[in-house]
Amino acid sequence: MASRWLLLLLLGVAGGGGGVLQVHAQVDSLGFISIDCGLPGEAGYMDNITKLWYTPDAGYTDAGTNRNISPEYQAGKSWRNVRSFPAGARNCYTLRSLVFGLKYLIRAMFMHGNYDGLKTWPIFDVHIGVNYWQTVNITDGDMPVIAEIITVISGESVQVCLVNTGSGTPFISSLEVRPLKNKLYPQSDASQALVLVARANIGSDKSIRYPDDPHDRIWIELPTGYGWAPISTTKKVQNDVNDVFEAPSAVTQTGVTSINSSRPIFFTQDAQPNGNAKDLVPGYVFMMYMAELQLLPSNALRQFYVKLNGKLWNAKTLGLKYLKTTVMYNEKPDYASHQYIFSLEATTNSTLPPIVNALEIFSAVPTAGISTAAQE
Ligand SMILES: *[C@@H]1O[C@H](CO)[C@@H](O)[C@H](O)[C@H]1NC(C)=O
Ligand SMILES: *[C@@H]1O[C@H](CO)[C@@H](O)[C@H](O)[C@H]1NC(C)=O
Ligand SMILES: *[C@@H]1O[C@H](CO)[C@@H](O)[C@H](O)[C@H]1NC(C)=O
Ligand SMILES: *[C@@H]1O[C@H](CO)[C@@H](O)[C@H](O)[C@H]1NC(C)=O
Repeated sequence: MASRWLLLLLLGVAGGGGGVLQVHAQVDSLGFISIDCGLPGEAGYMDNITKLWYTPDAGYTDAGTNRNISPEYQAGKSWRNVRSFPAGARNCYTLRSLVFGLKYLIRAMFMHGNYDGLKTWPIFDVHIGVNYWQTVNITDGDMPVIAEIITVISGESVQVCLVNTGSGTPFISSLEVRPLKNKLYPQSDASQALVLVARANIGSDKSIRYPDDPHDRIWIELPTGYGWAPISTTKKVQNDVNDVFEAPSAVTQTGVTSINSSRPIFFTQDAQPNGNAKDLVPGYVFMMYMAELQLLPSNALRQFYVKLNGKLWNAKTLGLKYLKTTVMYNEKPDYASHQYIFSLEATTNSTLPPIVNALEIFSAVPTAGISTAAQE
């Protein structure tokens, strides 16, 4: 279920248009790098949704060829082109002008669009530097796949490489780099990176990214689920002073409660073996974002337990603050299980059902020094 969320997104990324020639500078004033892979020519363009400037990829790789995706897949979509790598086992993009020791969100997107007219979908690996990042499994022509990693960079450049594993031609649609403050996502450090599994904007039918999220994370809409009732506010939801995730108010303003307060809210995530070491299951990191969106009368109480596989995940019952986000997360990856079942259960004293506003799931991958691979 979770991995499907990543696919259900209408993305405002690729697409032609523009016409202003940009001087070749890899990093914009926000420190962002935004590349439309396979975009011909030298002119970039401003993306209609994010208002961010996307540049062609010629300055980042000298391998591969530009291909246009098939017209039937372009219709109504902002995807137009890809760069395809029919030759070579490993083809890389080099991202420069990064800051040594800084934490970055790096995101690659893959929207096949039947660019080769063959209607067969490849499976290939993405590496960051010398490290396996994830396996990209294209399951349909119009299903974009997102690969995202949060990692500390130990160099001033980093390579993103597409590795042909004998199951079709690797290709890429876009590549984006967003700097993060080092205090964010403390589970990502010099020796461990976080690979995105799911990031859900719960109780909303809109996906959120930049500028609503200054870090340009993509929070994919998860409007409802079995037994859930949406809840929302138009008021701003604040983060705690010690918050280390900075979920934007646009995301935490919506959430769900359970329709029946005596029924928990459930989430299930199956552990998937790491594609690099087929039988090894990676550790998982979860962030659950909860905020009270209703001003409760004094005789009302919303109080609940968060349980993981039937055991209390936090030590105590959870009481939320009005318009203030509480984040529950594990500091160390959890390797304990092949299936993670979260349940949010009202206490017997509670007069109101549990609430949840957003969720992130990552797998943890070791990083033996993600840095420049120097050679080009
Ligand atoms: C972006 O907006 C411009 C102007 O409104 C429009 O002409 C263009 O088609 C849009 N591009 C995409 C990819 O939607
Ligand atoms: C790719 O996805 C298909 C469809 O979900 C699945 O059957 C297949 O096992 C996947 N392959 C790999 C290598 O993950
Ligand atoms: C709420 O759930 C409880 C326990 O499953 C059930 O006994 C009760 O009938 C439900 N109430 C409603 C209104 O559905
Ligand atoms: C429920 O309320 C009773 C009476 O105020 C109290 O003793 C008990 O500790 C409460 N239970 C929880 C789980 O807070």
